[in-house]
Amino acid sequence: MSTHLRLGVNIDHVATIRNARGGIHPDPVEAAKLAVEAGADGITAHLREDRRHISDNDITRLCTEVDKPLNFEMAATEEMLEIALRHKPHAACIVPENRAERTTEGGLDVVGGFDRLVPYVNTLTKAGIKVSLFIEADPQQLDRAVALGAPIVELHTGAYCEATGADRERELARIIKAAAHAEKVGLECHAGHGLTLDTVEPIAAIASIAELNIGHFLVGEAIFFGLEKSIQAMRARMDKARDQS
Ligand code: PXP
Repeated sequence: MSTHLRLGVNIDHVATIRNARGGIHPDPVEAAKLAVEAGADGITAHLREDRRHISDNDITRLCTEVDKPLNFEMAATEEMLEIALRHKPHAACIVPENRAERTTEGGLDVVGGFDRLVPYVNTLTKAGIKVSLFIEADPQQLDRAVALGAPIVELHTGAYCEATGADRERELARIIKAAAHAEKVGLECHAGHGLTLDTVEPIAAIASIAELNIGHFLVGEAIFFGLEKSIQAMRARMDKARDQS
């Protein structure tokens, strides 16, 4: 029997639209509540150093007003660590962060940045926060994630989603192989970035992946169909792929 594939809805871009006018509408916390009603198993939010979308107050409210686990995406900085320790979200996903990037462009370099990451993973873990590392589908990165003591990795699906034809097949094969490796070495495996209704099925069909984190596409689709309907459509597509796997 296939296991339930969790859907974490990333509400960053509700905040992007709000911030375009500097007011309070649309409210990402209200979007999070609606997402939960529509079938989200958790909410994901990235508090960036430049606060371009999610704000500190959004994080406070997500922790107190939303009745599902918060996956707090954060760069490995002292400031973000302090915020995570104050709020104690269910999970903290450590992501690379580059000020000039439009979105999280690549995975965290756990191999090269190992020593720098040690205190972050240890401190978050001691506080009872599940640590997830957002990495490329690369066995070397997975092995270093194990050595760091992180229980979860999230595989970056951006290159798979952007590629076409044989390139996409190659990227998918890389993700399938990495997910199998994660299972072998005892890591809980998540995936996300750039996923759409057209790209989600082959990823959802990978039985060892426990959670997908999806945001931009769902918020974009909400313009045409409403947030609940767009999440329900994604949920249905994920469940169909998982049931057939
Ligand atoms: N997972 C991680 C770690 C991310 O950084 C992001 C983007 O913030 C996502 C998932 C969601 O990506 P998208 O908005 O493209 O669905």
